[in-house]
Amino acid sequence: MTLLTFPPGFVWGAATAAYQIEGAWNEDGRGESIWDRFAHTPGNIADGSTGDVACDHYHRWPEDIEHMAALGLKSYRFSIAWPRILPTGAPPLNEKGLDFYRRLIAALNERGIMPNLTLYHWDLPQALEDNGGWANRDTALRFAEYAALLFRRLGADVPLWVTHNEPFIQTFYGYGTGAYAPGRRAPRVMLTVAHHLLLSHGLAVQAFRAEFPPGPAGETSRPQIGIVLILWPHHPASQRPWDVRASRFADGATNRLFLEPLFRGRYPEDVLRHFAWRGIRPAIRPADLQVISVPIDFLGLNTYSRLVTQFYPLDLIGGARQVAPAGPATAMGWEIYPPCILETLRQARAYTSVPLYITENGAAFDDAVAPDGEVHDDARVAYLREHIAMAHRAIQEGIDLRGYYVWTLLDNFEWSHGFSKRFGLLYTDYATGRRIWKRSAHWYREVIARNGVEVPYL
Ligand code: FCB
Repeated sequence: MTLLTFPPGFVWGAATAAYQIEGAWNEDGRGESIWDRFAHTPGNIADGSTGDVACDHYHRWPEDIEHMAALGLKSYRFSIAWPRILPTGAPPLNEKGLDFYRRLIAALNERGIMPNLTLYHWDLPQALEDNGGWANRDTALRFAEYAALLFRRLGADVPLWVTHNEPFIQTFYGYGTGAYAPGRRAPRVMLTVAHHLLLSHGLAVQAFRAEFPPGPAGETSRPQIGIVLILWPHHPASQRPWDVRASRFADGATNRLFLEPLFRGRYPEDVLRHFAWRGIRPAIRPADLQVISVPIDFLGLNTYSRLVTQFYPLDLIGGARQVAPAGPATAMGWEIYPPCILETLRQARAYTSVPLYITENGAAFDDAVAPDGEVHDDARVAYLREHIAMAHRAIQEGIDLRGYYVWTLLDNFEWSHGFSKRFGLLYTDYATGRRIWKRSAHWYREVIARNGVEVPYL
């Protein structure tokens, strides 16, 4: 066995998102979100479930923080439900909603668990969707207003602020395929949606700088702001030119569509051209890209697997489709491909030198409580071990990786899959709300305690 040791101060964390764990969907003045509406509409969620109760974290959060402390987490990544703060998306502010997060943040800080707060993990107030949602430029302005309000009220108690989680998923699943809320199948507005999400990010960063003006160079105690992207390494199914082109397009539409505007202040030409042929054009105003590319302090990356792409003429938008993996896969059908960590970090590094975090990585398996009362999720332990080892390799290559967050702390509402997919370190018994430590939780606690991962090779 070899112990791969991480740099001192490496941030070991776990991540969640508001709608996936909180429940209490209509308590204490919370407004309706697009996920409430979507999940309440029959046929949208595989198992017919909703996030109405989910893990009941809204009431059980003190217990959940005890679990985090027992794991030894250095940081906890969570998101705020916009409709708890602004039930209709715009002022007035709902103090009771804010209080929930204020208490949570205070309790995390007391325990030395650094809060890493995401402003938007897909739960738009329904009132804003009724007004056009992310296809309407006004939503970007509302987001900046919401963000500014939280910077003012929660400000310095939160060291790491994230504007958006995976704008790609919100764009393509929310407004393209309709598989996620708000469930719109409107490919024509997709690029405009992506643009407004990015614009809202830039506007929020500007508001953040107004609230926390940059301090002297080298000062690190100030709150920092960044964004979280999901990046997939893309591989062509063959070296045939059509497959190579299709794979390049897939990389463009998922990764470069977000990396280039954020870090180079422009959209990738090949992607714009590809969509333009199909009549899909973003509504961009001059100066927008300057706002989108305002400097950020860090970049968060979510990575789970890779995508292998094949040319497929019947796909009207991309002429591309994903090939099912030949090797082992998780319960999501995602190929187990540990180099995704390394390849993703390398791609990000080609765009920026800001510190990087792996803000989500993990796997769903069909976990069950065994007769001995334990959850023997050895496959998850193996998955995490291999992926964390790749993170170690990235650091050895000189990549400035500051932290790693497991998706997710506890089994929760996995969007359109409902409760059928379990990603947690903790097993959630949905009938009773009980949390049970899986083997992977015990294992991860050891990793954190040693600041390193043991691998069975040199
Ligand atoms: C990511 C999401 C997260 C969770 C994982 C499995 O795309 O950010 O909420 O659903 O996938």
